[in-house]
Order: sequence, then structure tokens, then C-alpha cells
Amino acid sequence: ERGLRVADKGFLNTAVIESSITYIDGDNGVLRYRGYPIEQLAARSSFLEVSYLLIYGALPSGSQLSHFTSEVLLHGPIHSDAEGFFRAFRYDAHPMAMLTSAFSYLGSYYGEANPSLQGQDLFTKAAKGDAVALQNMDRQIFRMIGKATTLAAMAYRIRQGRDFVVPPTGMSYTESFLYQLDHLSPTDQLSGPQSYKPHPVLAKALDILFILHADHEMNASSTTVLQTGSSLPDPFSAVAAGCASLYGPLHGGANEAVIRMLLSIGSPKNVPAFLEAVKKREKVLSGFGHRVYKTSDPRSFIIRKVADEVFAVTGRDPLLDTAMALHDAALKDEYFVSRKLAPNVDFWSGLIYRAMGFPMDFFPVLFVVPRVVGWVAHWRQMMLSPSGVKIWRPRQIYVGPSTRDYVPLEERT
Ligand code: SDX
Repeated sequence: ERGLRVADKGFLNTAVIESSITYIDGDNGVLRYRGYPIEQLAARSSFLEVSYLLIYGALPSGSQLSHFTSEVLLHGPIHSDAEGFFRAFRYDAHPMAMLTSAFSYLGSYYGEANPSLQGQDLFTKAAKGDAVALQNMDRQIFRMIGKATTLAAMAYRIRQGRDFVVPPTGMSYTESFLYQLDHLSPTDQLSGPQSYKPHPVLAKALDILFILHADHEMNASSTTVLQTGSSLPDPFSAVAAGCASLYGPLHGGANEAVIRMLLSIGSPKNVPAFLEAVKKREKVLSGFGHRVYKTSDPRSFIIRKVADEVFAVTGRDPLLDTAMALHDAALKDEYFVSRKLAPNVDFWSGLIYRAMGFPMDFFPVLFVVPRVVGWVAHWRQMMLSPSGVKIWRPRQIYVGPSTRDYVPLEERT
């Protein structure tokens, strides 16, 4: 087979692209977006400013940021017939299943870059710097980021049987999202709508969490977006594929799995028995381990601090005692140390979302919303690559039966 070999299980050591978006050094716990350390961005930037940086490669000027912000917020609302789409789901549908389908639904609307020749033509022109094609691509990106929060909020409220609300202007992206999630609509209460203002500490905490989750180079979901995008469907369909990949408990679903794990452990005194079960492979230690980080996930230190700020407002979650006991015991245990397992971004984020009052199955949705930015940044980078878009079509090593003749049914035993 012309010297083919399986590229290490799970692409363990395979680079599929060259990228200038995000840099990770797994041995030293380094994460940089377009060269800027994640610690500086989390401390000093905002989610939409980081979004601009990831997509366009530079920190925006004041006017660039306000244009980007107003475009994204302008594209937030969605046609009212999307309500029918969400009402078609069963009352207890998982919000990630709804969101995955909703991105594909968006593609049915905004398919101006759908897999038609015009779509290919659009990308080719954009790659050559055609201003109209680039503007068209930007509009797709504004829609994707702007509507990600709207779709997420619809998936959240539909299960509570609540009307959808459109946020007022003048709020930040994250505050608008919190408004869409929590604002009491007129039908929610007898006394008429109250003016809802997100809590500043919680809005800031969510904005930092969005910065930390915005991109992470070739993780499973970003790779899925590019694999799908390489055959040139509309970008919403490629993002729907990425959303499905992130849903899994080995990836973005881990933040929900961590809380379920902590609840099942119950209290710090049960941690030793739980870790023994993990060593026997009877249980999984969710929120620990990472394909790339072999010392520590730099995001987990930042998130840990955000957790304390959130708990100061919401009250301390007793589940933190079990989380801390598990964290400390695993970091001292030879089994985990020898396998270089440390807490990852998902170990603490679920505790924050729980303290903020989100239902557990909504936690992966709170990972998708910011990660849409990383997905579209990589998608745009691929679409504009000077060498053009090449469909991703890997090979395999065939290990099945060699050639054999058909046996008619009556002759089969
Ligand atoms: C995210 O890729 C990204 O960048 C992802 C992400 C992003 O921002 O996009 O960072 C977000 O998805 C973080 C990861 C969230 N997932 C979890 O927390 C789920 C629990 N973690 C494991 O499933 C695992 O650590 C993975 C999936 C994260 C990584 O798996 P790998 O790289 O395939 O590692 P591995 O399975 O080869 O593990 C090496 C060894 C194995 O032991 P041996 O078989 O060699 O004896 O470590 C063991 C594994 O069994 N191991 C674990 C473990 N993770 C790995 N053992 C117990 N508990 C764990 N969590």
C-alpha cells in the first residue's frame, strides 16, 4: 500500500494543517491566541475583542471593534419561524442535540454559500481578495457568532416552556446572552416585565470563560469543522458537524460529565474508593487528562480563580469540597502522575455554570457558543488559503478479507 501507515491512533502525532491562529505547548502548559498569552487576554481583553483577534489575526482598533460588535449583535435575532423548529423537539430534548440541528437549520436559510458552484466561486473569489466575496464571508461569520447565543437561548427556554426574548441594545455580547437566557418575559410573571440587568460579576465571569473556550487549535471539533468544510458546504453545515463532535463526553461534554461524576462521588470521604475504581477502569475521571497538555492546562488555573469570584457572589457550592478532595488526591497519586493527567478546562467550568444556575445538560452548550469563534476562524483560514481548498480525504490500511466469490443464499449454511 505504497508505504502507508496508520497515523498513530487518534491522530496522536499527526499535523493536518499549518495554522497561525493558536499555539499550544503541551509540555510547558502554554496557550497563545495569535501570539498573545491566554493569561493576558483573560485578564485584560473581552470575548468579542478576542474573537476579532482569532478571526482576523490582529487586535482591533476602537472603530474596528465597535463595527465588529455592532455587526455581530445586529445579526443576533432570528426569523420567528425558528420557534417552530425548536417547538418540534420533545420537551426533554438535550440542548446539544437541538443546537447541532439548529446550525444546520441556519444553513438552510443562509445557504448563499451552499454547495453550489456559486459557493465554490464565492470562496475562490474571497481567496483572491475580492471585496464583495470577503464581505459575504464576513456576513456569514457575523451571523454564526451573533446567532449562536440566540439559538442557545432558544434551546434553553423552549424546555422551560418560556417565550423567547430579544435583548435590548447597549449590552455586551455576553450580557445580551444572559438577558436572552434569564430575562423574565411578560408571560413569565403577573407584574409585567421587569428591567433585567445581568449581575456584573457573573457577566464578567462568563466573558472570561468564553475567552478561555474560544479556540484550541486542532481539537476534535475544530478538526471536524475543517474536515466537513473541505468539501465546501455552507459554513453553518460545517459548524453543525463540529457541534456534534463537541457533544461527546471525551470533549466538550466533559463539563457536564464532571458534575455528574462529583454528584455520584457524593462527598470527600468517597474519593479514595472512586479513584480505585478509576484505576480498575470501572470509572472515568472526567475533567482530567488532555491529548496535548502533559503538565497542566493553563486555562484551569484561570478558571479556578474565576470560580472563587463567582462563589463569592452565588455562595460556595458544597460540591467544591468533593472537587478539591478529588483534585488534590489525583495529583498526588502515582497512577495519574505517571500518566501525566492533570485537571483540564472542563474540571472547574461545570462548577461555575452550576453556581450560575444553569442546568447540567446546558454546560456543553456554554462551550459551543465561544468555540464557534475558533471554528469560524479556522474555517476562514482554510477558505482563504492561497493554495486553495483541498478536500480532506485520508487513506486507510485495509485489514479485511482478501478477494472471494459470491455464494448464493440457498448454498449458505
Ligand atoms: C477538552 O483537544 C482539545 O484541545 C480539547 C479541549 C479543547 O479546548 O478543545 O481542550 C477541551 O475536550 C478537554 C478534555 C475533556 N475530556 C475529559 O476530561 C474526559 C476525560 N479525559 C480522558 O477521556 C482523556 O484524558 C482525553 C480524551 C482527554 C485524552 O485522551 P488521550 O489523549 O487519548 O489519552 P489516552 O487515552 O491515551 O491516555 C493516556 C493514559 C491511558 O492509560 P493507559 O491505557 O496508557 O494505561 O492515561 C489514561 C488512559 O487510560 N487516562 C485516564 C484519563 N485520561 C487518560 N485515566 C483515567 N481518567 C482519565 N481522565
